[in-house]
Amino acid sequence: MQQITGKKILVTGVTGWVAGPLAESLATQGNTVYGAARFKDPAQRQPWHDKGVQTVSIDLEKGKLDEVPSDLDLVLHFAVAKSSNFDEAFASNAHGSADLLEVAANQSDKLSFFHCSSTAVYEPKHGEARKETDLLGDSHRPMPGMPTYSISKIAGEVLVKHTAKRLGVPTVIARLNVPYGDAYGWMSFHLMMMERNIPVPVHVDQPTTYTPIHADDINRSIPYLLSYANTGAEIVNWGGDQLVSIEDWCEEMGRLTGIVPTFNPTTATIASIVPDLQKLHDAGFHSSVDWREGIRRQISTMRPELLKN
Ligand SMILES: NC(=O)c1ccc[n+]([C@@H]2O[C@H](COP(=O)([O-])OP(=O)(O)OC[C@H]3O[C@@H](n4cnc5c(N)ncnc54)[C@H](OP(=O)(O)O)[C@@H]3O)[C@@H](O)[C@H]2O)c1
Repeated sequence: MQQITGKKILVTGVTGWVAGPLAESLATQGNTVYGAARFKDPAQRQPWHDKGVQTVSIDLEKGKLDEVPSDLDLVLHFAVAKSSNFDEAFASNAHGSADLLEVAANQSDKLSFFHCSSTAVYEPKHGEARKETDLLGDSHRPMPGMPTYSISKIAGEVLVKHTAKRLGVPTVIARLNVPYGDAYGWMSFHLMMMERNIPVPVHVDQPTTYTPIHADDINRSIPYLLSYANTGAEIVNWGGDQLVSIEDWCEEMGRLTGIVPTFNPTTATIASIVPDLQKLHDAGFHSSVDWREGIRRQISTMRPELLKN
């Protein structure tokens, strides 16, 4: 499918893991890209300008959206607040997402909206593949520090869907599984634990399986996901083709580094969540980065000194 080019795009959450590499890649594809975050420290802006991404300060929690550009073709909304306070999390992730959609739509009659949600919205079911219509739940509640995450992401979907319908804005809600890239990922925390001889938490209902998707495939899959955008705000699961568990990727990091992982099976962590990717595949997208190669690339970028060879 044709990659996105020649468009005026706002990418929120640009200082975060997933949106940063995406904004950078869209800027190299001939788009006019604005990257939004709070940018409390003005010095944070220059590196983005150097990468061809113009910066915009927004604060979803406070409803500060006055710098949102007009005549946008597309908003790729990735910003998320990981607050343990429900009022703050709802203000940013739910109210803020809907406000952003409305402000951008009021300033553009050609807008499409891409809302990044999470497979954290599902009730886990022993690693069985979850379809978009399956039961929602509070999967992240047991995870230390993430008591609001699942519920505020569900609330975000609800308000975005309602606002998209009310304003008639073509919208897709993409439920992302486990993103990782050369310079970020959940597994990088696991590697740090392994180095310190700390057992990696895995769910007692083992294996703790997901469908990780590499940043290269995240970037490539956006047009396929956008092909589902409609004014009913279609929901589509988003992940890589391969089933990989935390246990698998830690063992692989052990093989590459010689650091042997140990595991702590517990209920105080997220259980396996495997999305059913039929809709994404029906659009014609399949991931291309093999997970072992992705892990090797990550370690060789982030911790090259740990690689055995
Ligand atoms: N990471 C994962 O494993 C994962 C898995 C599934 C889905 N997702 C989804 O993927 C998206 C990106 O996640 P991520 O892990 O890349 O996020 P992240 O690294 O935690 O970054 C969060 C981003 O949101 C911005 N932000 C936070 N509070 C804000 C506010 N009040 N107003 C405006 N911007 C604010 C941050 O900017 P500041 O510089 O202003 O703090 C930062 O750019 C999210 O929607 C998340 O739910 C992530």
